[in-house]
Amino acid sequence: MQSLEHTYVDWSNYSRSYDEVIHCNPAYRDLLEQARREWRSIPTDSVTRILDLGAGTGNFGLHALEDFPEASLDLVDADLRMLHQARHKTSPGQKVRLLVNGAKEYLEKDGPSYSLILCFHCLYTLPDPKGTLKAMRQRLAPGGSVLLCDLGRVLDVGKWRGIIFGDLVRQRGLPQALQVLWRARDFTSQNQTIAQLQRNGTFWIHSHEEFLSAVEEAGFEVREHRIVFEGDSDLVLATSADEVTGLVN
Ligand SMILES: C[S@@+](CC[C@H](N)C(=O)[O-])C[C@H]1O[C@@H](n2cnc3c(N)ncnc32)[C@H](O)[C@@H]1O
Repeated sequence: MQSLEHTYVDWSNYSRSYDEVIHCNPAYRDLLEQARREWRSIPTDSVTRILDLGAGTGNFGLHALEDFPEASLDLVDADLRMLHQARHKTSPGQKVRLLVNGAKEYLEKDGPSYSLILCFHCLYTLPDPKGTLKAMRQRLAPGGSVLLCDLGRVLDVGKWRGIIFGDLVRQRGLPQALQVLWRARDFTSQNQTIAQLQRNGTFWIHSHEEFLSAVEEAGFEVREHRIVFEGDSDLVLATSADEVTGLVN
C-alpha cells in the first residue's frame, strides 16, 4: 500500500497539460461562462483592481480582465510553472503582475486591497481554507466582491475521464482523443492524488451548505450561490457583510 505521509500534488507537473486538458472539459468551459455572467453583474467602473488567488494558468483572472480592461490584475499562485503558463497568455498593455506566493501568506502581507477577488478550485487544497477566507475578507476593498468556486466533493477520476474523453471524441474524433488522453496521463495521476488527499482529510471536502457557512463566518454576505462542475463544486458571489449592515443602519 502506498504511504500517504509523503503524498502531495505536483502542481508543476499538472501545469504542463493543464490548459490543454482543462479546455477539453465541458464542465470547465461552462464554469468559465458562469463566472463571466457573475462578474458581469458587477458595475464595470467599480472594478479597478482584481486578484486571482491560486490563479494557476490564469484562466479566470485573464478572462475577467477582458471584461474590465482598465483594471489591474494580480495572479497569485504558489507554483512558478503554473504562472509561467499564465505569462504566455498576457497581452502587451495589460496591467498584470505574476506573484509566486502562498495564498494565505500573500493575503496576510501588507498590500493593496482589491475590488474583485477570484479564487477558483484552490481553497480546498490549502492547509487553512477558512483562515484564508478571513484573510481574503481583510483585503477586499469597500464595495468589493469575491467570486469563489471550490471543489467540495471527492473527485471521481473515472467519471471525469469519461466526461472529458466523450467530449474529445465528439469534437476531434477517436484518434486525436486518444492522443490527448495519452499526453494528459500526468494530469490524470495528479487527479488521483487529489482524490486520495481528499479522502485522507488533507484536502478540505465540504457540502454546499458547509461552504456557504464558511464564507459567511469569514464575514461575507452571500449574493449568489449554486452547485456547479457536475455537482462537485460550489460557486459563490459575495460582498462584505459589514457593508450590508452599514447600509441597513
Ligand atoms: C486546481 S488548480 C486551479 C487553478 C485555477 N484557479 C483554475 O481554476 O484554473 C489549483 C491551483 O492552486 C495552487 N495552489 C496550491 N496550493 C497553493 C497555495 N498554498 N498557495 C497558492 N496557490 C496554491 C496550485 O499551484 C494550482 O495552480
